[in-house]
Amino acid sequence: MMQINSFDEYQKTYKLSVEQPEEFWSGIASTFKWRKKWDKVLSWNFSEPNVKWFEGAKLNITENCLDRHLAENGDKPAIIWESNDPEKDSITLTYKILHEQVCRFANVLKKNQVKKGDRVCIYMPMVPELAVAVLACARIGAVHSVVFGGFSAKSIADRINDASCKLVITADGAYRGAKQIQLKEVIDDALIGCPSVEKVIVLTHTRTPVSMLKGRDLWFEDEIKLVDTDCPAQEMDAEDMLFILYTSGSTGKPKGVVHTVGGYMVYAGYTFSNVFNYQPEEVFFCTADIGWITGHSYIVYGPLSQGATTLMFEGVPTYPTPARLWEVVDKHKVNILYTAPTAIRSLMGFGDEPVDGADLSSLRVLGSVGEPINEEAWHWFDEHVGKKKCPIVDTWWQTETGGLMISPIAFVTPTKPSYATLPLPGVQPVLVDEQGNVIEGNGVSGNLCIKFPWPGMLRTTYGDHQRCKLTYFSTYENLYFTGDGCLRDEDGYYRITGRVDDVINVSGHRIGTAEVENAINMHAGVVESAVVGYPHEVKGQGIYAFVIFPNPHSDADLSRKDILQTVTRVIGAIAKPDKILFVSGLPKTRSGKIMRRILRKIAEGDISNLGDISTLQDPAVVEEIIEKAKQV
Ligand code: WT7
Repeated sequence: MMQINSFDEYQKTYKLSVEQPEEFWSGIASTFKWRKKWDKVLSWNFSEPNVKWFEGAKLNITENCLDRHLAENGDKPAIIWESNDPEKDSITLTYKILHEQVCRFANVLKKNQVKKGDRVCIYMPMVPELAVAVLACARIGAVHSVVFGGFSAKSIADRINDASCKLVITADGAYRGAKQIQLKEVIDDALIGCPSVEKVIVLTHTRTPVSMLKGRDLWFEDEIKLVDTDCPAQEMDAEDMLFILYTSGSTGKPKGVVHTVGGYMVYAGYTFSNVFNYQPEEVFFCTADIGWITGHSYIVYGPLSQGATTLMFEGVPTYPTPARLWEVVDKHKVNILYTAPTAIRSLMGFGDEPVDGADLSSLRVLGSVGEPINEEAWHWFDEHVGKKKCPIVDTWWQTETGGLMISPIAFVTPTKPSYATLPLPGVQPVLVDEQGNVIEGNGVSGNLCIKFPWPGMLRTTYGDHQRCKLTYFSTYENLYFTGDGCLRDEDGYYRITGRVDDVINVSGHRIGTAEVENAINMHAGVVESAVVGYPHEVKGQGIYAFVIFPNPHSDADLSRKDILQTVTRVIGAIAKPDKILFVSGLPKTRSGKIMRRILRKIAEGDISNLGDISTLQDPAVVEEIIEKAKQV
């Protein structure tokens, strides 16, 4: 892969990518392995939308992630796995071994009637077999839909049904710090309402007892013994579907974001190699879970497509001690560390001792992702982790963009704390005002849109193309709308200021307010609720719920816990509100619309400037809410 090595080169490359995008991207794409090259680099319109990259090309992404590295790098570590338990040995899968395991498991899928285009749900712990399962799907052209281990049975069932998954891959259980999650049990509950699922493959991991249903459930360990290791890769069209990944939006129902094989591969590989300045012998450590897009693109596909060594960590940064993350870095001589502001802030909370006691001299590049990084966290990361010698790349992107979009390039782009800095080659951001006028010049802010396609962009939302159009391409004509607010300073640097829609970003995870409200409203006795985000020291944003619940238990705290339990059942523990306030009414306009603006102010603790409340149905509820909010 060609890497950009100076700011001057970045500027030239950027210019070329805007003026001659097809030439630029076909140059990048040529560094990958294609069975047949494309007839046309790009055709597109944002009105339907219809975007096609590398049309006519044939490939398999696993040949790019595995086979093509075998001749020269077969014995190079592809995946290093570090257990939740520091006493347990780590595992190294070389490219040769990973290739063999993927082929073997791909044959297991085939044996169980999974064919090209079939959807497979993956609900697994962060173990090497998760990466193997993902790649095995890609090997045979099945579409994977990975669901993060923190989602509830109902959330899984909704996702399985939305995509009519035929098969589920899971494990008995997962470890996360001191906790254990009974994955199989959750899957058993989910599958009561999932008629499309024919088979469930269960990996043994925690050895917790599980029920195995005759005719449906199979052990991973048994299945792989019944097949051989030869599995030719399925030939795919560049625009065939690679995966679906569900993400939250403003409405109650998560959307299945669809990525396709060719463009996604090129984009994940290009951005990985350039932004992190990956060098051949280095160890790259992304702390995300493969259940999120960050894990898809920067634990699995990006690094492996570039023949890199990717570290997969099962645990959490603070278990068993707040020094764990640093111990992992030192143990595996990590060169590039890619993590989230929420993790940095939580580690900062333990003081400097754990981090200052670590060596960390292997580190060369640091990355941040998921939410705006505040200056304090940025400086702590820079001083205590990078020892002021590692560039920090603050990478802005989304599930929908497939890969990094606005970000410094390590050693190339001068950084500025809390700025994602400049668009990567091929990315054409614009800021627009409420009316949709493009705002030119510097020292301005507006809503962030992208005006030209890039290879990694989503192609549709699964099963509902109209929804894709409405959500991303209808707010502003001929623009992709990101949902983020953004400012461009005097130097033309971009700083993402946060979501402008009803999406909350909790610890770098997107949660829709409507989704949480629907879950709360399912609790018996709840009449209505309104959910907003508020600034949270560690999580970035916390979830604040205003709930009309006329007859709570005599111990209101117990009622709050009941509601949390309901949300955990309906969505998962990740969506639990941090604060619940029982109120007798919500501020509504005369047409019945909840004035979230007011609730947001109250949740932020800023009641000095509530704006005009005279148009409310009942302005008095605002007084009541303000009074009650003081008490939580
Ligand atoms: C939203 C996307 C793709 C990364 C993981 C999250 C926010 C992401 C940054 C950043 C400020 C950021 C945005 C975006 N976000 N990275 N560097 N600075 N905000 O993926 O769940 O699809 O969420 O995360 O608000 O829209 P996601």
